[in-house]
Amino acid sequence: MCGIVGYVGVRQAAPILLDGLSRLEYRGYDSAGIAVRDEQSAHIEVVKAKGRLTNLMQMTDSGRAVSGTCGIGHTRWATHGEPSALNAHPHYSKEKRVVIVHNGIIENYQELRESLVRKGYTFSTQTDTEAAALLLDSYYAESSAPSPRERALEAIRRMMIRVRGSYALGILFGDQPGVLYAARKDSPLIIGRCEGENEGHVLASDVPAVLGYTRRVVYIDNLEIACLTREELHIYNIDGEELEKPFVEIRWDAAAAEKDGFEHFMMKEIHEQPRAVRDTLSPRIREEEGGRVIDLSDSGMTDEALSGVRRVLLIGCGSAYHVGMAARTVIEQLARVPADAELASEFRYRSPILEEGTLAIVISQSGETADSLAALRLCRERGVPTLAVVNVVGSSIAREADAVLYTWAGPEISVATTKAYSTQLAALYLVAVKLAALRGSIDDAREQALIAELLALPEKIERALADKERLQWFANKMAACRDVFFIGRGLDYAISMEGSLKLKEISYIHSEAYAAGELKHGAISLIEDGVLVVGVATQPELFAKTVSNLTEARSRGAYLMGLTPYGQYAIEDTVNFTVYVPRTEALFATSLAVVPLQLLAYYISCARGLDVDKPRNLAKSVTVE
Ligand code: G6P
Repeated sequence: MCGIVGYVGVRQAAPILLDGLSRLEYRGYDSAGIAVRDEQSAHIEVVKAKGRLTNLMQMTDSGRAVSGTCGIGHTRWATHGEPSALNAHPHYSKEKRVVIVHNGIIENYQELRESLVRKGYTFSTQTDTEAAALLLDSYYAESSAPSPRERALEAIRRMMIRVRGSYALGILFGDQPGVLYAARKDSPLIIGRCEGENEGHVLASDVPAVLGYTRRVVYIDNLEIACLTREELHIYNIDGEELEKPFVEIRWDAAAAEKDGFEHFMMKEIHEQPRAVRDTLSPRIREEEGGRVIDLSDSGMTDEALSGVRRVLLIGCGSAYHVGMAARTVIEQLARVPADAELASEFRYRSPILEEGTLAIVISQSGETADSLAALRLCRERGVPTLAVVNVVGSSIAREADAVLYTWAGPEISVATTKAYSTQLAALYLVAVKLAALRGSIDDAREQALIAELLALPEKIERALADKERLQWFANKMAACRDVFFIGRGLDYAISMEGSLKLKEISYIHSEAYAAGELKHGAISLIEDGVLVVGVATQPELFAKTVSNLTEARSRGAYLMGLTPYGQYAIEDTVNFTVYVPRTEALFATSLAVVPLQLLAYYISCARGLDVDKPRNLAKSVTVE
């Protein structure tokens, strides 16, 4: 979703802003803009364009046409007001006294708008952000603080108290050359210090935007304000007290966010799965005298706390929710603890019953998804212990949860998640086996066998990837189809949900996941010649039943693809095309079966000539509710 970049320093700002914004393109956006101030003329130049960043680059000769060493930039994902150059950020007040870029939503913007109109302000866009810009302008004008900086800080503080909603803001004041302000509530913001030829400070909503310039960053927390100049950085709380905040070193570098010879980030990330799953599993498996043990102490979750768990809630959105659906079965089967998967956006609004002994596991790649964060907060308010399974270090969910089990996927750029999904699953297998061992619901031999199987997963994922040419051939054949159903039972239904989501996200083909047994209760009426049905059958005890459901679909004209482990060759009697994955413990089969489904979606998207990494209307990190 929306991205923010800011720079103040010795270099020309516009090329840095455009470069930073290009690193945030993966988040999804529909328009972009920059504001740069020229020190000589005190003029702030604002340039905005609808569509891809290339449009803005063309308009500014890649930034060369806009001169100045201090500026802010933004990629917008429309919420209030259509995607257009007018509604794109930066937004500003008269004579550009206040110029802002904003991520998040100002919820009470209507009310603010009305009261500002009464004060004589006029609005020229349909955005919620403009209300924040003009409110800030009015407070800035009203302030009688002695210096411009104090006036700005006072105005920002008053605005933060007055607005409801979420925001990360980058702010320029027309009469303060060389100074950039920032403020945050519930939307991420970091500041990096640049040295050498780029000397100065950079501001961004996400790490990739600053990696080309620095690896030393400060995370701005909720209700904090920052003031940046070329040499100085000051951070204040909402009471105006200055804070001492540590710089942290980002471990991954810019190269991790490059395509590495692959045509798309998605394909690169699909291929990184063996490494990412290994990095997530191996450091948490220790050799001891009696055998291997799972050690989750890096998460901050103690064995004692885990032993007391009587119910598990797995909460997430999108693919993270699908991970929860699979993990729920694995946890219940192994640890015999009731487990439920919950959509974060639904969970919050039904006044959930949270008994003692519940552990809430919040799953999120970005650690910033608004609904997941709100669900986490709800659990915390209600005294339920929380464990975050998160990829982005230092993200809001990671920081607010009681314990964090990081997935070591590395930066994921493609909007459609692949390696983050796989590592979340791996992390939750660890939790499931650990819980089972602590509760004594599995014996030592089973525990050792499960751990051995976990360690074998990366190599098996590698083997699942080896079949990609056949999938590419099949995808080319299927690229024109209009409807696809993914069916399976139990864990295979959870895999179907993810396979279907991948396909619709990036190929724009209508697809649905159906619990195989439910097909005949409704969706079978939609099956006709030319519909593709993908049957997932990794669970031995459900194999025959899913194959029967496939047969029912075939009788109505469906074209069938089967997905099953090697050895289950009987499926070929029923389906038109089969994909086999290596055999593993049935409870872990999701990790292997998902790979061909990712590849299928990828190749179909390529065959249709679509923008694989940046599908229309979607955002990588959904920071609005
Ligand atoms: C968006 C992304 C999905 C992701 C979901 C949850 O919809 O496009 O790929 O699964 O958000 O994101 P999170 O960062 O919380 O895992």
